[in-house]
Amino acid sequence: MSGVHLRLMAASDWDACKALTTMGDEAAQLDFASQDDLRRFLARNPFMNWVAYDDASRVIGCVLCSTDSLRGYIYDLVVEPTHRRQGIGEQLLNRALQGLQKFGIPRAVMTTARKNHKLGLMLVEHGWQISEELAFYTTDLSIGTHQV
Ligand SMILES: CC(C)(COP(=O)(O)OP(=O)(O)OC[C@H]1O[C@@H](n2cnc3c(N)ncnc32)[C@H](O)[C@@H]1OP(=O)(O)O)[C@@H](O)C(=O)NCCC(=O)NCCS
Repeated sequence: MSGVHLRLMAASDWDACKALTTMGDEAAQLDFASQDDLRRFLARNPFMNWVAYDDASRVIGCVLCSTDSLRGYIYDLVVEPTHRRQGIGEQLLNRALQGLQKFGIPRAVMTTARKNHKLGLMLVEHGWQISEELAFYTTDLSIGTHQV
């Protein structure tokens, strides 16, 4: 993988990561509204968030990951289209998982669209299983009072 390097994500990577995750066809999307949001997230989740960059220091891939101390959650994993199939996604994912392992987190979870075959192939090839039992529910807490 000549010319491609990995380092921990910094809050200043917000613009580059935002651009990567909003390139169009992508399932990934960086939800942080600002660099400050990302800074707080990174402070709470050290060693788990990484970027890949080229020789010109241009960010070409990123992985966003957190833990609640029970599980690790991978939110975004994205590699610039022109750099795909060179093992960068796999390396980013491994760094995030190693970050989780530092804290003894025993299980990682990643949710994505079922039709995301590229990611599915990658995960299955590396021993991940698709959950038959678990369903993924979501609710929007940003609108008004929330009642269960
Ligand atoms: C998923 C993604 C991150 C993979 O990144 P990548 O750098 O291309 O992945 P890698 O080169 O490390 O590939 C690792 C393995 O995944 C599988 N894989 C990845 N892309 C694949 C594709 N297009 N077709 C088939 N298998 C694929 C292969 O098994 C591959 O190993 P191989 O190249 O030795 O056969 C990249 O395709 C991407 O950014 N997709 C858009 C964003 C996205 O959907 N992210 C996931 C949800 S957040």
